Amino acid sequence: MIHLRKKTVDMACLPKHIAIIMDGNGRWAKKRGLPRSAGHTRGAETFKKIVRYCGEIGISYLTVYAFSTENWNRPREEVDNLMHLLEEYLDKAGTELDSRVRVRIIGEKEMLSPILREKAIKLEEDTKERTGMVLNIALSYGGRQEILHATRALAEKVERGEMKPCDITEETLSAELYTAGQPDPDLIIRPSGEKRLSNFLLWQAAYAEFWYSDILWPSFKSVHLAEAIAAFTRRERRFGGV
Ligand code: IPE
Ligand code: IPE
Ligand code: MG
Repeated sequence: MIHLRKKTVDMACLPKHIAIIMDGNGRWAKKRGLPRSAGHTRGAETFKKIVRYCGEIGISYLTVYAFSTENWNRPREEVDNLMHLLEEYLDKAGTELDSRVRVRIIGEKEMLSPILREKAIKLEEDTKERTGMVLNIALSYGGRQEILHATRALAEKVERGEMKPCDITEETLSAELYTAGQPDPDLIIRPSGEKRLSNFLLWQAAYAEFWYSDILWPSFKSVHLAEAIAAFTRRERRFGGV
């Protein structure tokens, strides 16, 4: 049993995998007459708090959308600012992050600067033996690109004669995704008032429950996450059944 906002929730009812679209940093800053970068800095603080909270309440997998493939189209200054923040995070994560958390960086690593890529790979390596929560950070991530990447990998296996076209199944395709071996997200959370996926976990979201909120990401607190989880526990998931 776990206490979430004065309610007691059976641990077995908690979502195993939560995914969050960390959106609304720019609007948070604009409302306060601050540059967008100030929103991103505050958003990074929220991110750290939410990771800690998820670990505390016993979430097994947390995936956060930090930067999409489409976000490369933002002005150069903003992209540089975001990459700098990510680099800072990866630098400190080794010491600041809960020592049980395993980190995976999912997305097109080849698109990252060599320094950032190296840091991402190092953090994955340094935390790979850990057995606590898995934290997937989606960086230069796009759901369509991920599916394409998996499709190509399968096509290459067929070409090499390692498998037949009829061996391409939900399981073998899933095994080529960045989230291979992980359960699909049970709950996808999007703050900031938008109600869209924006190319996030397209394949994995097939039967996810959605929870939206108008709160902008820098103002998002653990109570909001608790509220989302409480709402999740009240839903009836049918997976196409009756
Ligand atoms: C989320 O906040 C951060 C990233 C997408 C990298 P936004 O920067 O999208 O903030 P809004 O949506 O403009 O408020
Ligand atoms: C989605 O937010 C990507 C991240 C939060 C990293 P966007 O702000 O890029 O999405 P759109 O443009 O509103 O769909
Ligand atoms: Mg946005």
